[in-house]
Amino acid sequence: MVISYLLSAAFIFKNWFSIIIIVRTMKTTLLNLLYSLPAAQLVAAHTAHYSNGTGTGQPVGQPVGGFSSVRAGHKQTPFPEWLTEFTGLKEWPGIDPPYIPMDFIDFSKIPNYKRYDQGVCGVNPRESCSFDCDRCLAPDDVYTCGQLSQTFDDGPSLATERLLDSLNHKTTFFNLGINIVNFPDVYQKILNGGHLVGTHTWSHPFMPSLTNEQIIAQLQWSIWAMNATGHHVPKWFRPPYGAIDNRVRSISRMFGLQAVLWDYDTFDWQLLVEDQTLRTEEDIYRDVQDWKQAGNGLILEHDGAFKTVHVGINVNKILGDDQLTVAECVGGIDYIRTFPPELKSRNAKVL
Ligand SMILES: *[C@@H]1O[C@H](CO)[C@@H](O)[C@H](O)[C@H]1NC(C)=O
Ligand SMILES: *[C@@H]1O[C@H](CO)[C@@H](O)[C@H](O)[C@H]1NC(C)=O
Ligand SMILES: [Zn+2]
Repeated sequence: MVISYLLSAAFIFKNWFSIIIIVRTMKTTLLNLLYSLPAAQLVAAHTAHYSNGTGTGQPVGQPVGGFSSVRAGHKQTPFPEWLTEFTGLKEWPGIDPPYIPMDFIDFSKIPNYKRYDQGVCGVNPRESCSFDCDRCLAPDDVYTCGQLSQTFDDGPSLATERLLDSLNHKTTFFNLGINIVNFPDVYQKILNGGHLVGTHTWSHPFMPSLTNEQIIAQLQWSIWAMNATGHHVPKWFRPPYGAIDNRVRSISRMFGLQAVLWDYDTFDWQLLVEDQTLRTEEDIYRDVQDWKQAGNGLILEHDGAFKTVHVGINVNKILGDDQLTVAECVGGIDYIRTFPPELKSRNAKVL
């Protein structure tokens, strides 16, 4: 019932700001609700949050496919002992992760740009270098590739498995920490396929709207989710909605992360919106054919939902398997560090 309220509210108030306010006020209820919904309803709930008129056409507040909750046959990543020692906590946080102070974060080096919401541009000088507002790129941002290559955001999800079964090339996944700990088996399957994984934050906020502490929390918990599940510390970071400015960059660099944007956007998430005037699959395939003529670039896609995965599989058929991971594109490392899966082997010895 709340879902249909949201859907109609979103359509009545086409105005972007109204939707923001609705999303804000409904946030707690909605997110509690999302955790208990089956996949089909998750997609419906998700579409209520797409906005119009932001210029970027990006979704508001939710990842494609929503958040995964643990289902039958999927066990959550156990909360590791080393993380309890460090945080004093015993379980994974919800969508608003707590900030844990870290000694390598130097607050005096974080520039003082104002926080801003999605689509609210112009509050900071151009030198703040916002990608979402001005398409501004920092010298260390990765946004293209010598070989036209796909990238996938918002997983892992149940749909990710279908994508993995049909991909014949290595690709890059930017995953949400909260989805990683809820679908560790899918995450492991990504790694078994030799794919590269980067962070897409813990729970997909619009990072420039957050405080410095909240930005740190989003990055640290996503890194811990990856380390607890895949025993590695990421190098590559894709900000949700491409929302990054020099304040967010300065914090992510302190974690050793490097931002990855894109030069080609499929806008595949629009397939989940029931509006005939938005994109069709055919629009996407036509664009991909054009991009293929140019031969280079990084394509933004999503593996959070079955519809977008279906498109990703077809895009792969158009492009072929001659694709690179983001690390391969720039001749960089896959991960800052990898750890042996020590807990497992220690338990095995005890047994
Ligand atoms: C989006 O908003 C613009 C004006 O802000 C309007 O012209 C356009 O029709 C809207 N599109 C949709 C799909 O609502
Ligand atoms: C990663 O996990 C290992 C245990 O496998 C732990 O010792 C290390 O402190 C963790 N590092 C980070 C950055 O999470
Ligand atoms: Zn995303």
